[in-house]
Amino acid sequence: MVIVTGASSGIGLCLVKALLEAGYVVLGIAKNLEKAGLDHPNFIGRSINLADLDALPDAMSALIEEIDMPVNALINNAGIGRMGFLEQLSVKDIRLVMDTNLTSQVIVTKAFLPQLKKQGEGDILFMGSEAALRGARQGSIYCASKFAIRGFSQALREESGKSGLRVTLINPGAVRTPFFDRLQFEPEQSPENAIEPEDIAQAVMMVLASRAGTVFDEITLSPRSQVWKKKGT
Ligand SMILES: NC(=O)c1ccc[n+]([C@@H]2O[C@H](COP(=O)([O-])OP(=O)(O)OC[C@H]3O[C@@H](n4cnc5c(N)ncnc54)[C@H](OP(=O)(O)O)[C@@H]3O)[C@@H](O)[C@H]2O)c1
Repeated sequence: MVIVTGASSGIGLCLVKALLEAGYVVLGIAKNLEKAGLDHPNFIGRSINLADLDALPDAMSALIEEIDMPVNALINNAGIGRMGFLEQLSVKDIRLVMDTNLTSQVIVTKAFLPQLKKQGEGDILFMGSEAALRGARQGSIYCASKFAIRGFSQALREESGKSGLRVTLINPGAVRTPFFDRLQFEPEQSPENAIEPEDIAQAVMMVLASRAGTVFDEITLSPRSQVWKKKGT
């Protein structure tokens, strides 16, 4: 079984489809899974608000109780962007970005670790970003959340390798997904201006299929020619 957070849209939805196609049982998590229209005998969906940190440990314990097969991989993909100069961001938005992009992933991973370590094998993946590698204007909090998940994944890789676990961080540049629906900018329209979610799914499938003794620490993907456009121009 593979667990995918953020399974209802964009990269996560594309990943779910690729995993089902490859024969995996997939447990997908999002706030609103109905919008994905996923109907497959090997897909199990759970509507969980990952940003509700107080409820999350219990939600994870209940979920893990339900699982009756080995977990091949945990893919921490759910995430949000709130962009703007720091003084334009509300404290509520700052909290929401850090809770969703960092702390919820720490809690979810912590919940699955005992089972993964007991199995003695398994992959833990995080969806980082180019924002995990470089700070950018109007991205202070998003970059902070992604830099933090990079540090977390590096430390976790060191902590869990001897238990048979592999930790991989994927760092995409612009990917053409609904992520930009509520932002003021988006990638330009040409195919080389954005990565497609299928490209990320292909990278993840390569990680899962690789020899257990080797770890892809990080994979960075970029559009051949990244160009942003301001919406309405
Ligand atoms: N698109 C890009 O250019 C890009 C580039 C680099 C990295 N990334 C990263 O890739 C990941 C996926 O993004 P995407 O582009 O596929 O965006 P997307 O289409 O907006 O998908 C985001 C997913 O996260 C889920 N999600 C958000 N908040 C949640 C919460 N509180 N609880 C549960 N699920 C939640 C959403 O489900 P619900 O709406 O149903 O909650 C949705 O399934 C994110 O971590 C993002 O930071 C994206």
